[in-house]
Amino acid sequence: RSSQLMMAVGTAVIGSLQFGYNTGVINAPQNIIESFYNETWSSRFSEPIPQTTLTALWSLSVAIFSVGGMLGSFSVGLFVNRFGRRNSMLMANVLAFISAIFMGFSKLAASFEMLTIGRLIVGVYSGLSTGFVPMYIEEISPTSLRGALGTLHQLGVVIGILMAQIFGIESIMGNASLWPLLLGFTLLPAVLQCVLLPLCPESPRYLLINCNEESKARSVLIKLRGTDEVSEEMEEMKEESQQMMKEKKVTIPELFRAPMYRQPIFVAIMLQLSQQLSGINAVSQMSKGEPLEGSGSPDPLFVVERMGRRPLHLIGLMGMAVSAVFLTVAMALLLKWMSYISIVAIFSFVAFFEIGPGPIPWFIVAELFSQGPRPAAIAVAGFSNWSANFLVGMSFQYIEQLCGPYVFIIFTILLLGFFVFTYFKVPETKGCTFDEIAAGFRQSAGQGSDKYSAPEEFNTLRGDEPDL
Ligand code: GLC
Repeated sequence: RSSQLMMAVGTAVIGSLQFGYNTGVINAPQNIIESFYNETWSSRFSEPIPQTTLTALWSLSVAIFSVGGMLGSFSVGLFVNRFGRRNSMLMANVLAFISAIFMGFSKLAASFEMLTIGRLIVGVYSGLSTGFVPMYIEEISPTSLRGALGTLHQLGVVIGILMAQIFGIESIMGNASLWPLLLGFTLLPAVLQCVLLPLCPESPRYLLINCNEESKARSVLIKLRGTDEVSEEMEEMKEESQQMMKEKKVTIPELFRAPMYRQPIFVAIMLQLSQQLSGINAVSQMSKGEPLEGSGSPDPLFVVERMGRRPLHLIGLMGMAVSAVFLTVAMALLLKWMSYISIVAIFSFVAFFEIGPGPIPWFIVAELFSQGPRPAAIAVAGFSNWSANFLVGMSFQYIEQLCGPYVFIIFTILLLGFFVFTYFKVPETKGCTFDEIAAGFRQSAGQGSDKYSAPEEFNTLRGDEPDL
């Protein structure tokens, strides 16, 4: 395989790692940072902080990260066509630097406001990353490896979470003197990415289809593929380009108005919701006493090319639903040996998440749309994901107070609903070019016949849709 391709993918997923790191980093040092809030408050107002105020301020610092994510993911389209995919990733690092400084110096400045603003900014960075990274990886990968390399975004997230859990151990950085370094650490991956990105190529699809730079696109493609034999792929990109002339640039409202995008955008949003409303972050929040929870997580790297996206997503959702039932039973019965069952249930819940519902929604959106509508679609999908993330984060503890251990029954029902949806509505995209996938949706929207007919693989839309 071409080392250029691996280098480009590896550099991009530093952005995923940052997202994961900042998702996980705030859990372990909660008590320590809360006492910093308390001390700061006491020295400002000469009285201890009221418990409700502390809880509110802490929850704000945690949840504002997903608000940032919502802002960032929604803004993806402002960058990628204007500056290109690679340069957008490069520019976003400004946010990572600023946030690292805000969080890293908040203790010195005795300001919990700085910490909270830093969390917001790194949330914006992470929101942008969840759009930029899968888009870039999908656009530079050959069709046969698109899914496998696409899963690396989620692998980066998991590694980031794991690093945060390890660094957050008390004897490492999770203590009263070093927690600013724990939060400020985000500076280092940002520096690394800024050094490496200029050595990575721009997306050849962006160069050819958006900028009309044929010779540049070809030379980038030759480097990425490690061979001169790129004419077939160039042809295929030109086809997509011609198709795009018809589509022009697609805005977010158009995405919902045009019949041929209605189905793929619906599928994209539902897949994002299936990821977040599975309860993954509620479960990992709850099990924070088990660091290294993510360490056994599988990555479906090549399975996603062999078996396809659909079966893995289905198996993942069903496995999570079953694990959630076990978890509920174990927690409701409260028998002593049952606590082992609940640990096993949590492990299997997370493992099933990581084989499908974790990685697949992130990269499949780029596959469901061709070059024209892709940025708008990724923005809408990412925004749905982050909004649902915010929603679960805000409401979980209240619902848990109401329902006790039965809270996971809600997730079980949602998981089964998403299983049914995926079974009937999500097409297989494995092995199809972007153009073939778009053609499949155009056909099912009844937009006449096309030069391409939908490939066999795609033939999974059932229910009220006409057979492809
Ligand atoms: C996904 C989710 C994220 C979650 C993570 C856990 O990337 O988007 O919210 O924390 O997986 O592995």
